[in-house]
Amino acid sequence: MPAGPVTAYAPGRVNLIGDHTDYTGGLALPMAIDLGTTVTVEAQEDWVEVTSDQLDGTARFAAAGDVEGGVTPGWASLVATVKASIAPSMGARVTIRSTLPVGAGLSSSASLTVATAMALGFEGAPWDLVDLARAAEQSATGVPCGILDQAAVTLARAGHALLLDCHSRRVTHVPVPPDLEVVVAHSGLPRSLSESAYPHRVAACRAAEEIVGPLRTASLTDLSSIEDPVVARRARHVVTENQRVRDLAATLATGERRALGDLLAESQASLRDDYEVSAPAVDSLVDALRASRGVIGARLTGAGFGGCVVALVEPGTKLPGSWRHWRVDPSAGARRLAHGVTSG
Ligand code: GLA
Repeated sequence: MPAGPVTAYAPGRVNLIGDHTDYTGGLALPMAIDLGTTVTVEAQEDWVEVTSDQLDGTARFAAAGDVEGGVTPGWASLVATVKASIAPSMGARVTIRSTLPVGAGLSSSASLTVATAMALGFEGAPWDLVDLARAAEQSATGVPCGILDQAAVTLARAGHALLLDCHSRRVTHVPVPPDLEVVVAHSGLPRSLSESAYPHRVAACRAAEEIVGPLRTASLTDLSSIEDPVVARRARHVVTENQRVRDLAATLATGERRALGDLLAESQASLRDDYEVSAPAVDSLVDALRASRGVIGARLTGAGFGGCVVALVEPGTKLPGSWRHWRVDPSAGARRLAHGVTSG
């Protein structure tokens, strides 16, 4: 660890399509966004102190102590868990600054864990960083998440969406055409995954896979052998969503507006009706956007249960209403690479 402070930055992500597919080894198409987390680590003796510009309280715990049961305040458990796996006995003052709204479905947790790991001097291959960050999140929050968020935050490139195969871990960088704008809008409904039905959705997919084998290779016909109607609907979402990811990645290359809009609409309907992870506030926002001039399509992004919507729009489109929103700067994915870890 260098003598001076080390600062690292990691972006958040928006998922264009492919939600609730990662934990069955399916496909997703996320992008880095230009909101993110900056973490500064300064080595000190014996104690770890963690502060955040967005969250209240200071966490203070012994550097070599056991953090498995969590630390107080709870939001610092992510940092404590990452630190325990990279620099178990190091004392440090950790300062977090974030432009990402927490609990909005834009991967504030993955952005924090990846930035923390880099600021702590993580050395290793990008996929090792993804695995470390996911393991830390699972252990600190108890949420059985997949690799979507950590992979997007670590691997996405500027101007491109990341076509991510969560089974083979093959990634393809898909250019986002310059005549398309990606906008993220917040429904205003915050959500916490650890208190959500997320683990039940993961369990339903496991139940489906016990009957039909891996959902990533299953066809809709295969699903007819699932008797439980709820499990069958969950599985249908996963199978159809994987195909929509392939289709959206291909359609981005042609830029065909109607096809892009239809795919986003089908994904939204599937998340709402088959997977049941939307919420009235999210549905209203999607409907208002879709009815608005210049909007090509919109859908819930991330885990759901509230949070944000992603929209593809014609450049310069003015969004309706007063929802908080952000235009995704195509250069977003480059920032981590250009200004990642700086010492001094
Ligand atoms: C959360 C999880 C991801 C993924 C998405 C839904 O963001 O952390 O692993 O499952 O929900 O696509």
